[in-house]
Amino acid sequence: MKDLRAEFPILATLSRGKPLVYLDSAATAQKPQVVIDAISDFYSHGNANIHRGVYQLSERATLAWDAAREQVARFIGAPDVNEVVFVRGTTEAMNLVAHSFLPRAARPASRAPVVLVTEMEHHANIVPWQLAGATTIAIPVTDAGELDLDAAERMLAEGPSLLAVVHVSNTLGTINPIAQLCRMAHAHGVPVVVDGAQAAPHIPVNIAELGCDFYAFSSHKTFGPTGIGALWAKREHLEAMTPYQGGGDMIDLVTFERTTFAEVPRRFEAGTPHIAGAVGFGVALKWIMALDRPAVEAHEMQLMRTASEQLSAVPGLRLVGTAAQKAAVVAFTLDGAHPHDVASMLDGEGVCVRAGHHCTQPLHKRLGLSASVRASFAPFNNHGDVEALVKGMHKVRKVFA
Ligand code: ALA
Repeated sequence: MKDLRAEFPILATLSRGKPLVYLDSAATAQKPQVVIDAISDFYSHGNANIHRGVYQLSERATLAWDAAREQVARFIGAPDVNEVVFVRGTTEAMNLVAHSFLPRAARPASRAPVVLVTEMEHHANIVPWQLAGATTIAIPVTDAGELDLDAAERMLAEGPSLLAVVHVSNTLGTINPIAQLCRMAHAHGVPVVVDGAQAAPHIPVNIAELGCDFYAFSSHKTFGPTGIGALWAKREHLEAMTPYQGGGDMIDLVTFERTTFAEVPRRFEAGTPHIAGAVGFGVALKWIMALDRPAVEAHEMQLMRTASEQLSAVPGLRLVGTAAQKAAVVAFTLDGAHPHDVASMLDGEGVCVRAGHHCTQPLHKRLGLSASVRASFAPFNNHGDVEALVKGMHKVRKVFA
């Protein structure tokens, strides 16, 4: 994986005077040079607004924007490019579904909608439903960090308006059986929205195989820029949804009496969008697709397993999330040490990890924790990074012992 490291200029940066050991890709991924170049090139040679100018620069920017949408569609195996809506990220995607789809999904229509989530959801897959007036109920998680599928079946049979579930947990790393959950939900007539933010960087995603109704993910976790992401949705849902943000680019005809909207997906993309971001997003997805994905997956899994094994040998360290199907995320606690103190001490060694509740307060509560430390891996990480983490943890342990 040496060549891959060379593609990430940030890895040459020192942190606290030490070589950077970046183990926080689940929070945001670092960017390969091709992505940085694509953004810089757009602003240097291609910048104009889209869908507005008749001049060549604007036409080119529009083509670049459209090409990025096509790349997103290819990345998730979507046959219809117009089923891809550009949003600011996974969070905005959930808010869009909450405001524009959920009111139609309430069963019966006269009652406040009920959204079935899981105990391992990120707040972005809880709060938008609550803001939209729904009640959220959660499928329980086992001690190992897996979904209780018997409970899921019982809860789906009660007829919620929607199942909103994470593909890969940002805290536990658990890979949920989305295809199975979709089959279970659809048998009860329940549509499924999937938070794919942590899955997209690690595992190939094919929406036809998953069988979901909505799939959301963010550019910044897939090695692209911040501030852009995608929501894929079945066309029939998009056609039936009313936009919740109005403004430029999403209209057909405006009068003071009434406005009609543009075709999907443009009706959900109000205002001048993050054009350079989409360009970088498209290049990032192309970069991922050009990797030897099985090899990368095997490499990440090896790092995750080695880290889990070696960290487990640190006295007082407890792993959080030991599901059989896991992506390259390792969360843990250390007896007698607050996760923030652990992360600060690791920072002193140049090791960047996340500490806190990772936007999963209900999950931490379920596990009897207030916080945890989390190391998350990317294809550029190597065994030296794992060694630095483990060595750092032995040091931290000595201090707290
Ligand atoms: N959701 C991101 C994380 O897990 C920010 O760190």
